[in-house]
Amino acid sequence: MAYIIKVKDLFFTYSDGTRALNGVSFAIEEGSRVAMLGPNGAGKSTLLLHLNGLHLPQQGSVSVRGREIGKKTEKWVRTAVGMVFQDPDNQVFSSTVWEDVSFGPINMGLNSAEINNRVSKALHAVGMYEYKEKPPYHLSYGQKKRVAIAGILAMEPGVIVLDEPMAYLDPSGKEQVVNILDDLHQRGITIIIATHDVDLAAEWADHIIIVKDGRVLANGGSELLTQKKIVEEASLTYPLVSRIFLNIPELAVAVPRTVNQAVEAIRNLIKR
Ligand SMILES: Nc1ncnc2c1ncn2[C@@H]1O[C@H](COP(=O)(O)OP(=O)(O)OP(=O)(O)O)[C@@H](O)[C@H]1O
Ligand SMILES: [Mg+2]
Repeated sequence: MAYIIKVKDLFFTYSDGTRALNGVSFAIEEGSRVAMLGPNGAGKSTLLLHLNGLHLPQQGSVSVRGREIGKKTEKWVRTAVGMVFQDPDNQVFSSTVWEDVSFGPINMGLNSAEINNRVSKALHAVGMYEYKEKPPYHLSYGQKKRVAIAGILAMEPGVIVLDEPMAYLDPSGKEQVVNILDDLHQRGITIIIATHDVDLAAEWADHIIIVKDGRVLANGGSELLTQKKIVEEASLTYPLVSRIFLNIPELAVAVPRTVNQAVEAIRNLIKR
């Protein structure tokens, strides 16, 4: 199996003494879709910031494509792993949307034709092309979030990390982002998101990592989302689709997590 990211025994304490990571280990396969879940303050954002070198390990290690992240690889990993922050106000700061999205490609030293091509493509992908002349601070929160995503898309990294990508997006905005993620997945890009949306995790992810108190509570497939002990310990809820089946004891044997699985299960019931 080709692991693109490996995190081993990672500990991290903030300068005020808050221990945010308490010995985290996991590995991520290249091309996979990973959803990280867990209660507020669990350590998800802290962990994600380690994946592109914004935090360096205080103890333990993070490696990307076999290279251990530290002072020497910090700069490289910033372009290898694109990071969309939880709060777009920390990411979007130029005087126009176009300028903002071109920031990464310019820093990469690309020629101007390539920069224009990438910025235009990225803005179209998130549905923000018409806003290209606007100052980002005049945009709504959801629009800023899309611009932040476009800024990362334009750098075309092999791994994209998104912290709460759906927060504040309207339903069609969410669908648009899911479509973008699907498209990136088709192109072989490894995608890692932190989310509180169990339905999104169940539908979209092929790898689930549940974090609590700075530790990995569970690591596996979406079946974790229907395991009572894990769901309770991580303050999650069951996916909506699963809840329907869990409420009917006769059906609670093989519990579907996705709409397609539920449709299949109901079709089989009708046939019987
Ligand atoms: N800059 C900081 N200084 C001090 N403590 C911090 C800082 N950032 C986060 N923390 C603390 O570290 C812990 C982990 O926070 P983190 O933001 O990683 O959690 P999270 O899982 O992303 O939560 P959420 O779901 O609310 O986004 C929390 O106890 C938080 O209060
Ligand atoms: Mg967070």
